[in-house]
Amino acid sequence: MGKLAIQLLFLITFFLVLVSRITSQEVEDEAEFNYDPNGEKGPANWGRIHPEWGACSNGSMQSPIDLLSERVDVVSHLGRLSRSYNPANATLMNRGHDMMLKWEGAAGSIEINGTEYLLKQCHWHSPSEHTINGKRLALEAHMVHESLDGRVAVVGIMYMIGRPDSFLSSLRKQLQSVAGTYERDTVAGVVDPRNIKIGSRKYYRYIGSLTIPPCTENVLWTIVRKVRTATREQVRMLRVAVHDESDTNARPIQPINSRTVKLFRPEDKDD
Ligand SMILES: *[C@@H]1O[C@H](CO)[C@@H](O)[C@H](O)[C@H]1NC(C)=O
Ligand SMILES: *[C@@H]1O[C@H](CO)[C@@H](O)[C@H](O)[C@H]1NC(C)=O
Ligand SMILES: *[C@@H]1O[C@H](CO)[C@@H](O)[C@H](O)[C@H]1NC(C)=O
Repeated sequence: MGKLAIQLLFLITFFLVLVSRITSQEVEDEAEFNYDPNGEKGPANWGRIHPEWGACSNGSMQSPIDLLSERVDVVSHLGRLSRSYNPANATLMNRGHDMMLKWEGAAGSIEINGTEYLLKQCHWHSPSEHTINGKRLALEAHMVHESLDGRVAVVGIMYMIGRPDSFLSSLRKQLQSVAGTYERDTVAGVVDPRNIKIGSRKYYRYIGSLTIPPCTENVLWTIVRKVRTATREQVRMLRVAVHDESDTNARPIQPINSRTVKLFRPEDKDD
């Protein structure tokens, strides 16, 4: 009898711990902003949620934008995107509104016009945030870099549904564990950013902003021209991990205003 009571007590405690974990997770995940087009915390209202988020409403160089081919200046002088990455330890995090792979160690950098930008993290939006001639693609990866003096450069890579993306395949276990167990973070081990394939030397370049609050401006954007592929399952896995009700985490297209978009195309024809 005493043994049964202890077992019962153990079971009850177990369930209480489980319930409290789930509950606290939900509270933690109650995002300060979301993607509900009609919601109080939706993109149209981001700029009113906090004074520091004002640029989301009143900025003049916001992201994402539509990359309309007629509007793009084709140039050959921007130079190849110079990436020098290396493997480093990383953590996969569920930020509630997206999944983020954050490198703890030095994962290398890119160099743009003489400035070095260190790779900090990579996260995903689905469908894509930038559009090409008005069309959204299935997925967009953002590799976020920061210079020593705090300037931000993001490299965007777009995906349509097709063959599996090998980098996402390599993260499958970690993505599943974050999605399924209410764990916010999971150690991803050593992740080599060189495995995030670009596969093209052509890219779009423009000046924009962060696509989530605080929507900070003067972000140097590089969007790889080549559209890569990922499976429906891979896109779904990135979305399932996100605990909010909207089935998107793509910010609406922002006005381009007086900005120009350049398309870098190397002069030689081997691309
Ligand atoms: C934009 O919003 C910020 C923060 O609320 C404010 O400080 C700034 O004055 C606003 N700018 C314009 C042009 O309204
Ligand atoms: C990653 O972390 C482990 C454990 O802390 C450490 O032994 C290893 O050297 C790290 N690897 C790299 C590439 O930083
Ligand atoms: C590159 O940097 C130089 C000097 O800092 C600047 O004058 C030039 O406009 C920059 N070029 C581009 C394409 O940003």
